[in-house]
Amino acid sequence: MSSFYITTPIYYVNDVPHIGHAYTTIAADVMARYRRMRGDDVTFLTGTDEHGQKIEKAAEAKGTTPKELADRLSAGFRQVWEKLEISNDDFIRTTEPRHKAAVYEVFRRMQAAGDIYLGEYEGLYCVPCESFWTETQVVDGNCPDCGRGVDTVTEASWFFRLSAFGDRLLAHMDAHPEFISPKSRANEVRQFIHMGLRDLSISRTGVKWGIPMPDDPEHVMYVWLDALVNYLTAAGFPNPGYETRWPAQVHVIGKDILRFHAIYWPAFLISAGLPLPERIVSHGWWTIDGEKMSKSKGNVIDPVAVAEHFGTDAMRYFLLREVPFGNDGDFSIARMVEMYNADLANGIGNLLSRTVSMVHKYRGGTVPAGDAADAAAAPVKEAAALLPSSFHTGLDDPQRTGRGLKFDEPLEQLRQLVWAANTFIHDSAPWTLAREGDDARLDTVLYNAVEALRVAATYFYPVMPEMAGRISAAIGLTLDPYAIDFDAAAHWGQYPAGTPLPAPEPLFPRQDLKTVPDHLTVKTPQENPVSDTSAETPAAQASDPPAATEATRDDYVSIGDFAKIRLQVGTVREAERVKKSEKLLKLQVDIGTEVRQIVAGIGRMYTPEEMLERQVVIITNLRPAKLMGVESQGMLLAAGADEVEALLAPSGPVTPGARVR
Ligand code: MSP
Repeated sequence: MSSFYITTPIYYVNDVPHIGHAYTTIAADVMARYRRMRGDDVTFLTGTDEHGQKIEKAAEAKGTTPKELADRLSAGFRQVWEKLEISNDDFIRTTEPRHKAAVYEVFRRMQAAGDIYLGEYEGLYCVPCESFWTETQVVDGNCPDCGRGVDTVTEASWFFRLSAFGDRLLAHMDAHPEFISPKSRANEVRQFIHMGLRDLSISRTGVKWGIPMPDDPEHVMYVWLDALVNYLTAAGFPNPGYETRWPAQVHVIGKDILRFHAIYWPAFLISAGLPLPERIVSHGWWTIDGEKMSKSKGNVIDPVAVAEHFGTDAMRYFLLREVPFGNDGDFSIARMVEMYNADLANGIGNLLSRTVSMVHKYRGGTVPAGDAADAAAAPVKEAAALLPSSFHTGLDDPQRTGRGLKFDEPLEQLRQLVWAANTFIHDSAPWTLAREGDDARLDTVLYNAVEALRVAATYFYPVMPEMAGRISAAIGLTLDPYAIDFDAAAHWGQYPAGTPLPAPEPLFPRQDLKTVPDHLTVKTPQENPVSDTSAETPAAQASDPPAATEATRDDYVSIGDFAKIRLQVGTVREAERVKKSEKLLKLQVDIGTEVRQIVAGIGRMYTPEEMLERQVVIITNLRPAKLMGVESQGMLLAAGADEVEALLAPSGPVTPGARVR
């Protein structure tokens, strides 16, 4: 049994959790559940980051003490994680005594290594991000991360000799290409190191709420040094035996805190003579209608409200299925309704309810024995057989260096299984078999349909733990996910025939966008430490409802469907970067009859200059959307596995505006 230690970031207790926090935590939870199914000895850690100026100020704004705020909001995080079925084994708070002991020991080791000295710090500090910036990093006097103002700070400070670690960090990355993923993020880290690392100020005098510096209680420890050590604390450091947990196998983080995890943290560990975590896996950023979530905009999505309306499992499924892990994504309730109906209501929900109903109708509620080697069921069996490997390639395999986690791969394989099973039922027409009295064939169809549900329930478990149990119960089984052999569970024909089934109950009733309550996208204002008057802001589902998909989803579209999408060739006349975004370019594209403004996420692959006079293909009848506040009147077509690799273009020049058919 190998040890598998996985962590989320620890969350600031200046606010209640939103959908972004939920995303990181759910992703780590899915990994943890999956590894438990594989038989690993999993330790899954989450927790709260409770010290620092950010919390001090939030408490002041609320007229309370940092301790009271931290106690209350930390408990709030625990409650939300329970509601979202987070299976963490430990929950760490940085205000716990066990943590202080670990921080002191790490600091003592760094000091003994000669990497700590007392100096004077002068610099620009962003309080909300707890980050120092240089003159060249700030954008128009504002923090390059959050866009808010920075303060100039001069004070005596303890420093960590980060400047001495660049080569060692690069060497580690060379020797362990899987260390940081996705690859694009690893490249960012390399670039940052190549620009030259400066020593890091690791103490503050103006702040009281923190861990006092050893032998210098006027200073408290920089909150990121304090916070990062949490991963060691929870492993038991410095007590004997911590090595059974440490190093962690995976730190799951958002791209916003990559620098802290991929540069500062490994440097601290190298200095302290401790092994580095095996993998740092970074995910992208959720926006709402292309904009950053923020209380002032009133677009903060409350994961509990979403879970209450759609069900926790449906929300977990949507978050992991909608956006390939590592990419940014836009959260849309309309999209969620659409995916829910297609994959859950019409997909697995339909498979379950029609199968169980037919077992009741035709076989008195007892699953008959049938031929598991039936030729017509072969595609279902084949889809099932691919499930274990879709998890292996999507979620393990550090050899596929830099690819990152791919939750969408096993989920797509599950969708294929469900689709194949629904197609099998449709094509086998059990209702006709019943009418014609073809009992043997009817038994076989029912048996294979139930078997597909057994397999689906098993492999849905990491993402939809509650529903997996309920699907199993609906086919008369008790799912014990950690007792099974992960690979062998996909072998076809294991369902015990003769099992009586309970009466059918719908697990995924269809959703209607019109009945989604308005408050869903807006957080309850009473928990906000900073005053918030945005509760009246319209919800994100204001966009039109998607066309309802009544039939079971399948992969075919009609030529009429395709014709609805207007694809046209255009010539780029102007191009510039969208301010504060390294990814987005703003293009003026000539399509003959007009010039369209298109915002495209191609800024990492193409410079604005390279785009000039290039011909591109765009969708010209897509509803305009705002990306980072800039309107895009269409979408440019590009291709790539994870990130954009190349643009689509005609093989020779064509008149601007030409239709793609
Ligand atoms: N306390 C630090 C982490 C210290 S770890 C040693 C911190 N906390 S946080 O509460 O601000 O955010 C934690 C994580 O929440 C981010 O890394 C990111 O993973 C996630 N997200 C916050 N907003 C998000 C989105 N809008 N979208 C996706 N994830 C986001 O940073």
